[in-house]
Amino acid sequence: MWKTAIEDAIQKTKQNIETHGALFPHITQGSALKSYEWGENNDWIEGFYTGMAWLAYEYSKDPFFREEAGKQTADYRRRLDRKVSLDHHDIGFLYNPSAIACWMITKDESAKKLALDAADHLLTRWRPRGRYIQAWGPEGDEENGGRIIIDCLMNLPLLYWASEQTGDPKYRDIAALHADKSRRYLVRGDDSSYHTFYFNQENGLPVRGGTHQGYHDGSTWTRGQAWGIYGFALSYRYTGDPLYLETSRRLARYFVERLPEDHVVYWDFDVEPAPDTYRDSSASAIAACGLLELIGHLSEDDPDRSYFQEAVERSMKSLVDNYSTIGQPKAEGLLEHGSYYIRGNRGPDDYIIWGDYYYLEALIRMETGRTAYWYER
Ligand code: GLY
Repeated sequence: MWKTAIEDAIQKTKQNIETHGALFPHITQGSALKSYEWGENNDWIEGFYTGMAWLAYEYSKDPFFREEAGKQTADYRRRLDRKVSLDHHDIGFLYNPSAIACWMITKDESAKKLALDAADHLLTRWRPRGRYIQAWGPEGDEENGGRIIIDCLMNLPLLYWASEQTGDPKYRDIAALHADKSRRYLVRGDDSSYHTFYFNQENGLPVRGGTHQGYHDGSTWTRGQAWGIYGFALSYRYTGDPLYLETSRRLARYFVERLPEDHVVYWDFDVEPAPDTYRDSSASAIAACGLLELIGHLSEDDPDRSYFQEAVERSMKSLVDNYSTIGQPKAEGLLEHGSYYIRGNRGPDDYIIWGDYYYLEALIRMETGRTAYWYER
C-alpha cells in the first residue's frame, strides 16, 4: 500500500519539475486549482521541494532526480552568498534537505562547505544573554528580538551535524542549549506546548508564552506539537541525552491521545471541532515522521512502541485514503487540507510543500525502514 503512494508521489514530483523548471512551490491561498504558486528560492520552505527530489532519487535511483536536485541545490549557494531572505532561523529547513542531502548522496565537497557555511549563518542568531536562537527578524527587534519558536528544534540537526564534521563543539553546544531552553519554556507541565516564548532581551529572563499560528496564546497548535515530537527525537539522536527522548515521548502521547476519528489532526488541539473546522494534514505527516524517529530510539520491550506504531499506521492510512491526491494525476500537491496560518487567512486549506515532503518521508520510512540520509549521523 505504501509503495503505490510513493510511486504516485515520485511521479508528481517529476511532473512538477518538468513543468516548472527552476521555480519553487510557494504557499498559496487554496488548492482548489490543483496547483501551487511558483516562484524564486526566497522563502523558508524551498528546502522541502529540493528534499523531495533527493528523496525521490534515494528511493528510485532515477538519474533525473539526481540531476535536478543537484541543480536546485546549487541555487542555495547563491542564496546564502547574497543573504536572500535569510533573516530567520529556518536555515536547517533550507540547508539540511538540500546541501547536506547533496553531500551525503554525491560526496560533493562544495555541498558540504555550503552546509557548513549555512551552519555558521545560523549561529549568528544565537543570543548569549538569553541563551537561545532568535527565531525571526533582526537582532534587537522590538517584537521578535527575544522570541523563540518550537519549530526551531528542526533547525538544530544542521548544527549537530556541523560539530560532527568539523570537530568544533560550538555548534553542538549552542544547539543543545537551545533545545534545553525549548524544553523548559515551550513544553508545558501537561505535555502540551507553546508555539512561541518571549525573553527579555536585556537580561534574558523569561517573559511569557504565546502563539503566532495557533488558536490563542495558551492553546496547543498541532503543527508546533508535531515539530516538537520530531525535533526532540532528533536532538536525542545526536546527543543521546535521555531528557530529549522523554520530552519527545511526552509530546507524542499528548498528540496521539487527541487524534480525532479519522486520525488526522485539526489545526489546533484547542479548537472546538465542527464540520467546517480546518485540518492540518501537514501536522499529521510531520508527526508521523517524528513518531517513527522516536520509535526507532525506544527499546524493543517499551510498551509505547506498539502504541505509537499503530497510531502512525492509522494516520498514514487516513492520509493516503482521505487526503492524498492519488487518483488526480494532474494535481501538483500530494496532500490536501494542509493549513499554514488560519488566523492570518494564509493557506487555510491548501497544498503545503512541507506536508508533501514529510508525507513522502514517512511513506519511505514505512516502506523501507530507513530514515532520510540527511538526518543520519
Ligand atoms: N515553521 C513555520 C510553520 O510551521 O508554519
